[in-house]
Amino acid sequence: MLYDYEDRLAAPVRLKAASLQRDGRLSHVIFSKQFDRDLLDHVCDLATKVRELARLPEGREFLGSLINNRRAMLYFTQPSTRTFLSFMAASQMLGLDCNEIRDPSLSSEYKGESTYDSIRMFSSYFDLIIMRSPKARLAEESAYLMNDLRESGMRSVPIINGGSGADEHPTQALLDIYTARRSFDITSSGTPSAFKKLEHLKAKYPGFDEGLDGKTYCFAGDVGRGRTVRSLANLLSLYENVTLVFVSPDDDRYRIQDDLRQRLHEANVTVREETRLDAVIDDVDLLYMTRIQREWDKDTGVAPGEEPDLSGVHLTPELVARMREYTPILHPFPRNEEIPTSIDTDPRAMYFRQARNGIWVRAALIAYLFAKDTDIVRKHSRFFNERHRYNLGG
Ligand code: CP
Repeated sequence: MLYDYEDRLAAPVRLKAASLQRDGRLSHVIFSKQFDRDLLDHVCDLATKVRELARLPEGREFLGSLINNRRAMLYFTQPSTRTFLSFMAASQMLGLDCNEIRDPSLSSEYKGESTYDSIRMFSSYFDLIIMRSPKARLAEESAYLMNDLRESGMRSVPIINGGSGADEHPTQALLDIYTARRSFDITSSGTPSAFKKLEHLKAKYPGFDEGLDGKTYCFAGDVGRGRTVRSLANLLSLYENVTLVFVSPDDDRYRIQDDLRQRLHEANVTVREETRLDAVIDDVDLLYMTRIQREWDKDTGVAPGEEPDLSGVHLTPELVARMREYTPILHPFPRNEEIPTSIDTDPRAMYFRQARNGIWVRAALIAYLFAKDTDIVRKHSRFFNERHRYNLGG
């Protein structure tokens, strides 16, 4: 029956993930557990190819013709700067026309139309729906709605979750992984200085190597209600021998939730929980800062003055001085007081680059959903191999 999703929402994640793909490819992007390492590698490699092609006029022309004559609807009923704009930029880069609804009171929802009817309408007019909602499972329900429509022989389009309640933000986690990969890919340039840098880091920090395996990742702030933390922790659990350290104020609101703790335990991830960054800062390989998500306190009536001491999850120049010299500082943004702007000029501050990576990763994901990834790989290979041969005089 249309609009009845209870059983599917309650199904094991493995079954849900299977229902969100078709012919071995994702048909919707709803939660991080849909990704395995092969798919992560594929999307990240594709993002790099998009980034490299976008640097050149011919590459931009190629990308702009890839998915033209198609349309994307950005249905963002919760505030957003980065996710909204980078999805729009990524869509436009690939030739998609975009339209948006950001305020449901300006749509017919104001007149009592159900959100499901609205989403079904979008699928009549558009070829892709990218959505953000304060409601935790709305994107997932929308994907099941599209599946039901397809099974009834009706028009159906891919759904991408751009953030759902305090639950999941899978595309943020993808760009976080991409940023981490770039940070730990020391020798990709192939230059002698890059290899020298790797040698130096290995000598100074025994056990250090390139890649995401075997590393200690530290999440600090409101790790209980930050959906980016949940999605990224799930993706990091795909890597070998990782330790996840969660630093949050000493209050149940901010601690990681039981379901995530349980999932990480089942994935054999070493989990540590602390209340102060200074207890762990010297030994982390990547630091992921988050803000206190005060918007969720509105319902509980907690005023800022009633907050516990938050100083333990604030980054300071003194703490940064103690960090390893390679440790990237990430933050999904927006930030509040947890990272002072004086830290922005530190070479380890990656958060603005991280946000820019959102364009490449989201373009790669959209291209994948439209089965245009092979075209990108072929074009990139032809283009860069030809240039390489030309430069070699071939
Ligand atoms: N990281 C993130 O989701 O930022 P926005 O809320 O600005 O989209």
